[in-house]
Amino acid sequence: MILKTVDDTRDFGVRLAAVLRPGDLVVLSGPLGAGKTALAQGVGRGLRVLGDVTSPTFVIARVHRPDRAAGGTVPMVHVDAYRLGNVTDPRAQVDDLDLDASVEDSVTLVEWGEGMVEQLADAYLEVRIDRRDDEARVIELIAHAGDWTDRVATLSEAAAEHA
Ligand SMILES: Nc1ncnc2c1ncn2[C@@H]1O[C@H](COP(=O)(O)OP(=O)(O)OP(=O)(O)O)[C@@H](O)[C@H]1O
Ligand SMILES: [Mg+2]
Repeated sequence: MILKTVDDTRDFGVRLAAVLRPGDLVVLSGPLGAGKTALAQGVGRGLRVLGDVTSPTFVIARVHRPDRAAGGTVPMVHVDAYRLGNVTDPRAQVDDLDLDASVEDSVTLVEWGEGMVEQLADAYLEVRIDRRDDEARVIELIAHAGDWTDRVATLSEAAAEHA
C-alpha cells in the first residue's frame, strides 16, 4: 500500500483500528521518521481514545483510555520498544510496568526500530513502514500467527475499495 501524505497514514490507522480487539499486539516497524507515531495517531482516533498520541520518547509506555462518551471501549497502550530492549513479548514487559491497564484488555501498539521484530514469539501484526524519496510511505502488513492472516485480508480488501 502506498500512503502519500501523513493524513493518508493516519486514515490507514483508523481503518486498522476497525479490525483490532482487546489483547492484540501491533508492531510498527520502520526507520526514524517513517510515520510510526502518525499511524498510531490514526489507530487512537479509530479506537476513540483520550489524549494526544505522541512519541512515547520519555516514557516506556503510555495508556490512552477509551473516550466512552465518544463510543470508545478499548484502552490503547502505546509503547516505545526502543526502551524495552530485547524482549520476546513486549506485552509481558508492559504488564510488569503496572500501568493501571492490563494488556489483555487493551490494544498494545509498539514502535519498534528496524530489524527488531524477528525475536518476537507471540501472535502479532507487523506494520512495516518505509520512506520513499518522494515522502510517500510504503506500508506492508505482515501477519505473524494467530488469525492475523484473515484480518490482513480484510484490511487489504478495504484498502482496495478505498483506493
Ligand atoms: N506519507 C506520510 N506518512 C507519514 N508521515 C509522513 C508522510 N509524509 C510525511 N510525513 C512526515 O513524516 C514524519 C513522521 O513522523 P513520525 O513521528 O510519525 O515517525 P516515527 O516513525 O514515529 O519516528 P520515530 O522513529 O522518531 O519514532 C512526520 O513529520 C510527518 O508529517
Ligand atoms: Mg515515533
